[in-house]
Amino acid sequence: MDVEELSSISFRQFVAPATAMVRPLLLKPQWMNGLSERLLVSHYENNYGGALRRLNAIRARLAALDWERTPMFEINGLKREELLAAGSVILHEVYFDSLGGHGDNPPSGLAEPPAGLAQALERDFGSITAWRAEFTTMAKALASGSGWAILAWSERLGRLVNQWAADHAHGLPGATPILALDMYEHAYHLDFGAKGAAYVNQVMANLNWERIAARYRLAIGEGADEHKLFLPFGAPAQEEARISAEELKARLDDDDDRRPVLLDLCLPRDLPRRTDMLAGASMHAPAALPRWVEGLPRDRPIAVYCICGFQVSGTAVTELRRRGYEARALVGGITAWHAIGGATVPLDTSTYEDVP
Ligand SMILES: [Fe+2]
Repeated sequence: MDVEELSSISFRQFVAPATAMVRPLLLKPQWMNGLSERLLVSHYENNYGGALRRLNAIRARLAALDWERTPMFEINGLKREELLAAGSVILHEVYFDSLGGHGDNPPSGLAEPPAGLAQALERDFGSITAWRAEFTTMAKALASGSGWAILAWSERLGRLVNQWAADHAHGLPGATPILALDMYEHAYHLDFGAKGAAYVNQVMANLNWERIAARYRLAIGEGADEHKLFLPFGAPAQEEARISAEELKARLDDDDDRRPVLLDLCLPRDLPRRTDMLAGASMHAPAALPRWVEGLPRDRPIAVYCICGFQVSGTAVTELRRRGYEARALVGGITAWHAIGGATVPLDTSTYEDVP
């Protein structure tokens, strides 16, 4: 299964067919190695999310277009912007997927490519050190402008290539990105100012080689069971126990008795990271589940969310379903909700329990 299909396989019926659906963050933004949560979440919600929303808006415009009567300049403009937005969405997803630690562990900065990808890098660049030198120098050369440094698999050339890209639409035809390093200033200025080279070094200390290698196996047609690596850590394994941001938005827009009850779960230590919530949600401490669970309806669907959709909502949904509630965890949490442009209200902690 292609990586891009993973977040969009079963909820298609709730959104327009051409809708590009949000992919959740797989990295834990508060526990990265020298890249701040503020930088990563802003980048994900505003720049990746912005490209996604722009792509969907352009597609909606194109779907309604009268192709025979629309002026050429308008078609050129829309198709150019569609290509740029689609490239931005895809490359940002490769970028964010390529970062992060394993499970609950932050990146150590010491991870190396697994054997299969390591051998391919040695085959095509002489050594991993030589590949790294070329890739990072190419990225740093983009720092004074903007663009992407991409490691891609080219079927035609029969090798991995380090591909330079001046913008989101610049790609080697037919090549599949394995790793993408965002060199637009928005990717680093909050943490690094104008120091693009320092940012490149820090990204290299945050790579998740397990997922990068999985992309490589998929690209060369040797992938099997890779989809597990692209699920947020701690999210429920069963698809029916998860709900996408797009489906939740569609269901909340429905004004019927199947409208989900919203549950906002947050660890006490994470409260300072929160400023807003979904309208109508009630906020609770996960550890106080025995106190709040009885107040939940048994005849309504329940959508549970946390910050990024890792184990806080995942564990609670597993427990609620064990108790017979129709609960589902929001994939990507409120962070993915922000990325699709979902509305929120200021945080209300009046229902939050005191837990020791
Ligand atoms: Fe970006």
